[in-house]
Amino acid sequence: MQLLTALAAIAVVGLVAADYNTVKVADKEFLLKQKKVYNLLYHVSQPSLVNPTLYEEGRSYNIEGNIESYTNTTAVKNFLYLYEYGMLPRGELNTVYYSRHLKETEALLRLFYYAKDFDTFYKTASWARINVNEMQYIYAFYIAVTRREDTKFIQLPPLYELYPYAFFNSEVLKKANHAKLFGKLDSKKFGDHKTYIIPANYSAWYVSHEYDIEQKLNYFTEDIGWNNYYFYFRLDNPFWLKSKEFGLQKWRGAEYLYGHKLLMTRYYLERLSNDIGKIEDFDWHNEFYTGYYPTMTYHNGLPLPQRPYWSKFPYYKYAYIKDLEDMESRVSAVIDSKFVVDVTGKLVNIYTSEGFNTLGNIIEGNMDSCNRDFYGSIDMFARKILGYNLEPSTSYQIVPSALEFHTTSMRDPAFYRLYNRIFKFYHYRYKMHQKPYEKDEIIYPELKIESLVVDKLITYFDQFDSSISNGLIIDDVEELEKTLVKIRQYRLNHKPFSFHLAINAEKTMKAAIRIFLGPKHDIHHKPLDIAEGAQYFYEMDNWIVDLNAGTNKIVRNSQDCAFIAPDPEPSEVFYKKVLKALDSESDSLSYVERLNGFPERLLLPKGKKEGMPFQVFVYVSPVEEEPIVYTSRIFGGNKLDDKPLGFPLDKPTFNFRYNGTNMLLKDVTIYHKDEMELNVTH
Ligand SMILES: *[C@@H]1O[C@H](CO)[C@@H](O)[C@H](O)[C@H]1NC(C)=O
Ligand SMILES: *[C@@H]1O[C@H](CO)[C@@H](O)[C@H](O)[C@H]1NC(C)=O
Ligand SMILES: *[C@@H]1O[C@H](CO)[C@@H](O)[C@H](O)[C@H]1NC(C)=O
Repeated sequence: MQLLTALAAIAVVGLVAADYNTVKVADKEFLLKQKKVYNLLYHVSQPSLVNPTLYEEGRSYNIEGNIESYTNTTAVKNFLYLYEYGMLPRGELNTVYYSRHLKETEALLRLFYYAKDFDTFYKTASWARINVNEMQYIYAFYIAVTRREDTKFIQLPPLYELYPYAFFNSEVLKKANHAKLFGKLDSKKFGDHKTYIIPANYSAWYVSHEYDIEQKLNYFTEDIGWNNYYFYFRLDNPFWLKSKEFGLQKWRGAEYLYGHKLLMTRYYLERLSNDIGKIEDFDWHNEFYTGYYPTMTYHNGLPLPQRPYWSKFPYYKYAYIKDLEDMESRVSAVIDSKFVVDVTGKLVNIYTSEGFNTLGNIIEGNMDSCNRDFYGSIDMFARKILGYNLEPSTSYQIVPSALEFHTTSMRDPAFYRLYNRIFKFYHYRYKMHQKPYEKDEIIYPELKIESLVVDKLITYFDQFDSSISNGLIIDDVEELEKTLVKIRQYRLNHKPFSFHLAINAEKTMKAAIRIFLGPKHDIHHKPLDIAEGAQYFYEMDNWIVDLNAGTNKIVRNSQDCAFIAPDPEPSEVFYKKVLKALDSESDSLSYVERLNGFPERLLLPKGKKEGMPFQVFVYVSPVEEEPIVYTSRIFGGNKLDDKPLGFPLDKPTFNFRYNGTNMLLKDVTIYHKDEMELNVTH
C-alpha cells in the first residue's frame, strides 16, 4: 500500500494527475520554504564556501539559548548532551545499522522534529548543516521534512544528486570530479551553465564473470530510479521510529511485507525476460552462491565491501548467524503455532485481520514490534551477515556494506535472496496455511469483463542525464555557478500504453479494478497456470471506478497507474522554477502532493526483439463500503477498497476458483526495440 501514489506528470507540458491525486499551485509561503529546503541541502560538505549567508545564519544560532522554541525540551537536552560528549565527526560514514550512529541520528531528527515552527526548524538545520556529520544531517533532514506538519509535500531532490557515490561506479565519479578533462561539453546550454557529460555504464562493463548470469540484470538492479525509490520506501516508515511519536502508517508491518513482495515480483519478471529462472535458496551454513563486486567507493574513499562468489560466511559473522537463527525459529514458531508472545507474555493470535501486520512488525523488527527483545530483527541481522561488512575497529570507523544503506541495497543480488527467504516465510507458512477463498468471496457474477485489449507493449533503452554537481567537491564557487556535471546512462523505459476494458455491471455501482502482470511460462518454456504462477504476479495497478448499469468502456493509461511517478525533474530545473515563481506574478509552480513513487519507466519488464510472452490478470470486484483513503506523505494519496493487500492472489490458489466473469487472464507480448528501430517506427 505504500506504493499508492498515483499520478501522471508529464514534465514538458506541466502536470496532469489522475482524479485522486492533487496537483497544487504553490503559494508564496510554500515557495519560500521550498527554496530554503533546497538551499539547506546544497553542498553540505562545503557549507562556508557555497552559501556564506546561510553559513553565517547557522554559525550565529544557539540551540541552548533558544530552548523554549522547541516543543520537547527533553529531546533538545538529549541532543545537546550527545553533542557535547562528541558525535560522529564530519566526513565519516553514517548509517542507522550501527547503534551509536543510530542513536545520534535519532537525537538529531527529534531536534528537527520538535522545532516549534518552520523558522526554528530552518535555523536549527542551518546550524546542523555546519556542525554535525553531513550524512547524519541529510538523512535526519529528509525524515524531518517528510514528518513535520509545516513542510507537507515540500519537494526533496533525488538522492543521486546529493550523494552520487551511492548510485554510480568509482570510475565514473573519478571522471566526474575532473569533468572538464574527462567530460564531453554538451552543445545545449542550460541557462548560463556549461554542461559536461560523463558517459557511464553499469558495473558489468568492467567486471566480467563468465559464469555469473546475474550480471545480465545490472541495468535493472543499478537503475537509479529503482534504488531512489527503495530509499523512499524505507523512509516512509523508518524501522527505528515508533509510529505513534512520528505519525507513521498504522499498517507499517503489512506494508513492509507487501512492498517487498511487489519489488520481488517485479524483479522476478525482469529475470524471466533475461532467461534467468527462480532465485535459489540459501543456507546459513553453506556457501552463498551470488557474489557482489561493487566497483564503488564512498565519498571518503573507502571501497564498498565485496563478497566473493560461492563463499562461506566468514567466522566474524558466526555470532550474527546464531542470533539470526534464533529469530528465524521464533518467527517460524509464531506462524506455525498461530500466536505471538508480547512483552507481557500474553499470547496474541496472528490469524486475524491484523495478524499480517503484526508479523511484518516482528520480521522487520521495527519499533512497533510487540516484542523486540524476543523476535529481534531478521531484516537487520541478515543485512549484517550477507553484506560482508568488516567489523569496525571503533564504533565510528565503519565500512558499511551495500546492504547497510537503503540507496544501495538493491544493487546487491543478496538483497533478493534475503527477501525471497522472508517472502517464503510468510507466504508458504503463513499465507498458504490459510484456507483458499470461498467462491462467493472472489466471484461476483454481477460484474462481467466483456473484453480487454492491451496496446502494443514496447520497451527500449533511453538515455538519461543525472545532474550530480551538487554531490561533488568544488574548489571555486564561480566555476560552480557556471558549470553542470551530468552522468549519462542508458535506462529501461517503455512506450506509453493503455488497457482498454469493457466491463458490464448489473446496476450502478462502485468497483475496484486490479491489474496484475505475470509469467506465461518458466524459463524452460513450461507453461505456468495461474494456480502455480500466482505468487509471481506483479500488481501493476489498483483503482476504484464508478460503473453505470450496462457496459462501461474504461481506458486506463500506463501513466495513470496507481503506483507510479515519472522521473523527478533535475534540481537545477526545479529550483529555477521556484525562483521564477517567487520573482514574478505571471509564473507559478505546480506540484503534486507526494514526493516519490515507483518509477513509471519500470512498469514493464524488458521485452524481447521477437516478443516475450506474459499474462495479464484483470480482476474487478464491487466496492460496497465507502472507499478507504490511503495517504502517505511520501507516496501521496489513493482511494482503496477494504480488501487485503494482493487480493485475490494472496491466498492459496489451488482448488482453482479463479474463473468467474469478473476476472480475466490474457496473454500479452512485450517487444524490445533498440534505438535505431525506434527512430524508424516513431
Ligand atoms: C520527547 O522526546 C523524547 C526523546 O528525546 C521522547 O521519548 C518523548 O516521547 C518526546 N515527548 C513528546 C511529548 O513527544
Ligand atoms: C560502455 O559500454 C559500451 C559497450 O557495451 C562501450 O562501447 C562504451 O565504451 C562503454 N562506455 C564507457 C564510458 O565505459
Ligand atoms: C469454473 O470452474 C469450476 C470448477 O472447475 C466449474 O465447475 C465451473 O463451471 C467453471 N465456471 C465457469 C464460468 O467457467
